[in-house]
Amino acid sequence: MVTNRVGPPVRGEDFYGRDEFVKLVSNKLKAGDVVLAAPRRFGKTSVMYRLIDEPAWDYRVVHADLQHMTEPAQLITELVEQLAKDTRLSKIISGLSYLPKRIWSGFKENIEEVELVKLKLKLKEQVRLRWQESGEELFEKVAASETTIIFILDELPMMIDRMARSEAHREEAKTMLRWLRALRQKPNVMNVRFLIAGSIGIGHVLNDLGEVTAINDFEQMRLEPFPLKTAAKFLDELAESHEITISRPSKKRMLELIGIPVPYFIQIIFSEVDKTHAQDGEQVTPKKVERIYRDKVLAVDCKTYFDHYYGRLRDYYKPREEKASKRILRELALSGSLSRDVCYQFHKEIFGRQAEIEEFNRLMTDLENDFYVRYGFDTRRYEFSCKLLRDWWLRHYGMDTGV
Ligand SMILES: Nc1ncnc2c1ncn2[C@@H]1O[C@H](COP(=O)(O)OP(=O)(O)OP(=O)(O)O)[C@@H](O)[C@H]1O
Ligand SMILES: [Mg+2]
Repeated sequence: MVTNRVGPPVRGEDFYGRDEFVKLVSNKLKAGDVVLAAPRRFGKTSVMYRLIDEPAWDYRVVHADLQHMTEPAQLITELVEQLAKDTRLSKIISGLSYLPKRIWSGFKENIEEVELVKLKLKLKEQVRLRWQESGEELFEKVAASETTIIFILDELPMMIDRMARSEAHREEAKTMLRWLRALRQKPNVMNVRFLIAGSIGIGHVLNDLGEVTAINDFEQMRLEPFPLKTAAKFLDELAESHEITISRPSKKRMLELIGIPVPYFIQIIFSEVDKTHAQDGEQVTPKKVERIYRDKVLAVDCKTYFDHYYGRLRDYYKPREEKASKRILRELALSGSLSRDVCYQFHKEIFGRQAEIEEFNRLMTDLENDFYVRYGFDTRRYEFSCKLLRDWWLRHYGMDTGV
């Protein structure tokens, strides 16, 4: 029985339709390191939890969320904390030279949040002085253990990107990438695996730093939307467990409206249909589904979901790139698809006479890598990477606002 969950990672029975993918990732991790790429909300963290909850072979997972980190000392502190908290792994790091017994047992004993923050701060200060050596000492201890440990670095690309954009941390970002690479290639480190997950294209970030080879020894895995068949079955199961009758044509319409069957989109549209039905008791028809999509899914709830796509252009693209991207995306939302040449004309409008074709090419690659657009090699045209994002863009940013 699957429960309709919109937002948090899904676990147990609620984790649907990804068994084969998890098996593949798990098998790849037997032999090496993996980078798992997918847009926001595609289900990356849920996949990681499944690797933690139901290991197919004998390993332990250390999971760290790097989304808000800007320095390697934070990462090492986090790994130390996670290792200390794991009953099977805690002992391994008990003798670390920079980890006082008090802090080590503090991590283990589930102390109060405020105390924990204080301990972590203290440890971070220690590590900061010599983060490379501290990290090496940590991995020496880890390497000496018999257990295979998978370090999941969730959103490492975001951390690197943030560092690369700050004067103070840019060089350190390169050092950290090289350090991680050297660590992986040490002959005595046989029992360590890394799983990196990212919701922004890591290629873009590494390219910008001139470090394209930093993770070329990782197996690339892309988390795709559900196949249509799985999506249809998932909807059937949701309807059954929530005891709501949705006719076949209505289900078909739900899937057509969201376009790409991303599980999160299915959960959202199902949740809205279910809520509406619970309140008005009316039969669910394709027409009704269309109204719900228009008046609910594209309204406030989904606004917050996609907001970060809009905000990220401001945060991570240079001002003129941001302007050109917004211009191109608005036109794409209005027309559905555009040829390369037409996109280039819009780019020129912003960049003026100095518009360089290389700059345009780079911008379009970035927009592709960051999951805004896709390029159809058959049609030789650009379009939004998913229908829902296009509908959302049209609804909220389709008007001419001077960009
Ligand atoms: N296998 C799945 N079965 C059912 N629902 C899923 C599945 N995977 C993801 N979802 C839906 O997507 C939502 C987000 O999942 P999750 O947090 O794992 O994604 P994410 O890619 O890690 O997101 P973010 O990029 O924001 O960290 C869940 O709340 C759920 O609604
Ligand atoms: Mg996540």
